[in-house]
Amino acid sequence: MAATPESGLLLRPHARRVAPAVHVAAAAGLGKRYGNGVEALRNLDVQIQQGEMVGLLGPSGSGKTTLLRLLAGAVWPTSGTLHVFGEDVATQRGVRLRARRRRVAAVAQQHGLVPHLSVLQNVVLGRAGAVPLWRALRLVLVPSRGERDAAYGALAAVGIGELLDRPVETLSGGQQQRVAVARALLHGGELVVADEPVASVDQETAEVILAVLRRLVDDEGRTVVVSLHQPALARRFCTRLVTLDRGQLVSDRASTALVAETL
Ligand SMILES: Nc1ncnc2c1ncn2[C@@H]1O[C@H](COP(=O)(O)OP(=O)(O)O)[C@@H](O)[C@H]1O
Ligand SMILES: [Mg+2]
Repeated sequence: MAATPESGLLLRPHARRVAPAVHVAAAAGLGKRYGNGVEALRNLDVQIQQGEMVGLLGPSGSGKTTLLRLLAGAVWPTSGTLHVFGEDVATQRGVRLRARRRRVAAVAQQHGLVPHLSVLQNVVLGRAGAVPLWRALRLVLVPSRGERDAAYGALAAVGIGELLDRPVETLSGGQQQRVAVARALLHGGELVVADEPVASVDQETAEVILAVLRRLVDDEGRTVVVSLHQPALARRFCTRLVTLDRGQLVSDRASTALVAETL
């Protein structure tokens, strides 16, 4: 039978489904109440699939950082459930928690850099969590040729390869932000959580950083969750926009990002 336009339409959704969706994270009724009684997240239902670039939007205090910290394994839910890589995080401690942290690369809001160490040492530290302490110390004190090359590659990707040997404390805020992103690139985690990585940088740097994160999704199939203040940038670079307000989900929608055309 000849294909009709109708049958074509029916077939298309199946043809597009190359692989089943893989949940990198799934929150169900997720809540986080801090020790002081503040309810930072309330009854949140959200699923993040592999290969998405999720932009987290919402006013200050809406719970963005808390959600990213929950994903990274820095804090724990106080109600509901959160699964990351298929495992309930509530009971993750010790070896299993470290195993998860190796799979999650975090770009912290205050950069999390060590000011008096060099850019190279700071970037190499991105791998430190994945190896025993003695190796981590050696990595930082005497990085191998291979580590140096890998660090240079990550720094060059964010446009600051030439700063490799500079102490971090001599860099501008925007340059430090790029170092923090380079460190996450080198970390290699399949889930990258970035907390306002473009909050303190100029527009051009913001675009470089977001394009680099987006490439992790497009070229490497990694998953990125990034909190942002500028909805316009989020729409351009993210595949999906999740908006929070006072700890609750207010919207969750696909973005029509056409990032490849804007680069
Ligand atoms: N460590 C903490 N202890 C107590 N309250 C906190 C802590 N971190 C965040 N909060 C509170 O939780 C709420 C959400 O904060 P946060 O997740 O940082 O939101 P956002 O990143 O959207 O600004 C705010 O009211 C904030 O004051
Ligand atoms: Mg925040």
